[in-house]
Amino acid sequence: MRSSKIVGIGHHVPERIITNAYLSTLMDTNNEWIVERTGIHERRWIDPATDTVANMAAKASRIAVERAGLKPDDIDFIVFATITPDYFFPGSGVLLQRELGLDGRIAALDIRNACSGFIYALSVADQFIKTGMYNTVLVVGAEIQSTALDITTRGRNTAVIFGDGAGAVILQGNDKAGILSTHLHSDGTFAEELYVKDPGSSRPHSERQADQILDTSTFKVVMNGNQVFKHAVVRFIEVIGEALHANNLEKEDISLLVPHQANLRISQYIQDKLGLAPEQVYNNIMRYGNTTAASIPIAMSEAWSEGKIKENDLICLAAFGSGFTWASALIRW
Ligand code: ACO
Repeated sequence: MRSSKIVGIGHHVPERIITNAYLSTLMDTNNEWIVERTGIHERRWIDPATDTVANMAAKASRIAVERAGLKPDDIDFIVFATITPDYFFPGSGVLLQRELGLDGRIAALDIRNACSGFIYALSVADQFIKTGMYNTVLVVGAEIQSTALDITTRGRNTAVIFGDGAGAVILQGNDKAGILSTHLHSDGTFAEELYVKDPGSSRPHSERQADQILDTSTFKVVMNGNQVFKHAVVRFIEVIGEALHANNLEKEDISLLVPHQANLRISQYIQDKLGLAPEQVYNNIMRYGNTTAASIPIAMSEAWSEGKIKENDLICLAAFGSGFTWASALIRW
């Protein structure tokens, strides 16, 4: 059966390093609290004068394309996961297409599934390859979270968590194993537990403009951290189990689990609960914070660069986030 394989991978993060010490100068927080609750030591924030979601994505994509031994012209389709597009519309897929000089020739699709976005995007690309409609698909996760954070004490429960960055893979059709399966879920009951309200279309613009003059808080990330934590730890375990069961595999078969980098405590909980060895789980949240849809491709790209992902390894991806949505993928590398 036709399968799809990751043949190239790359990532890009902004130059600007934001330490916990720097955040302590902006709000009432401290290194100890942030490290203890989240595991994060520093994150990257963009320079608004030069960085965009699309140009960070283009940098990551060019690395992935080159490592695949291809040229941008070989790409048939772009699937772009982001909840922080450069414009309210159009999506960032078309902007990436323009950045790569592929104007007018190929399709571009945006996926808005937050932390699960990259796995959803991978799944969509996988289906297009399996049906034979496309053969070489660029799958990207890229986010600029820093501009939507409330960097005052009022927003400290989220401002310390999120970071910016981009990761990309080239997925290509082949006859050997690659993506074994993907598993996608959602439950909108919890939509407002982790969300940014505006610019939403369900309130009259005039009313919203009046609000905006007084208060821009509806444009900032709102998160019920305890609820997110409680659901995340259950859903991560479930969806990883689902992927293993679907492929008649055991947790011992996992060479490397690359979880969405939500919070180090969540990753460690999953590791403990599944009884995985530390070297079976890849974490880089310490350096980049939570980069939402970009976190898995950035982590996979770093793990690959460090020689932690090798031919024939069994790689498990898993994510949970806003929606709530959650997802997993099993890949024979
Ligand atoms: N610095 C110092 N104190 C803070 C900060 C901060 N940055 N943020 C909150 N606090 C304070 C609170 O005000 C509160 O003070 P109080 O007791 O006087 O009221 C105290 O710390 C405890 O706050 P909680 O929100 O209860 O802290 P908690 O232990 O739950 O940790 C956290 C918060 C880290 C967000 C936690 O809930 C969590 O890990 N949740 C999971 C959500 C998550 O990881 N989200 C990431 C994005 S979503 C995703 O990717 C799935």
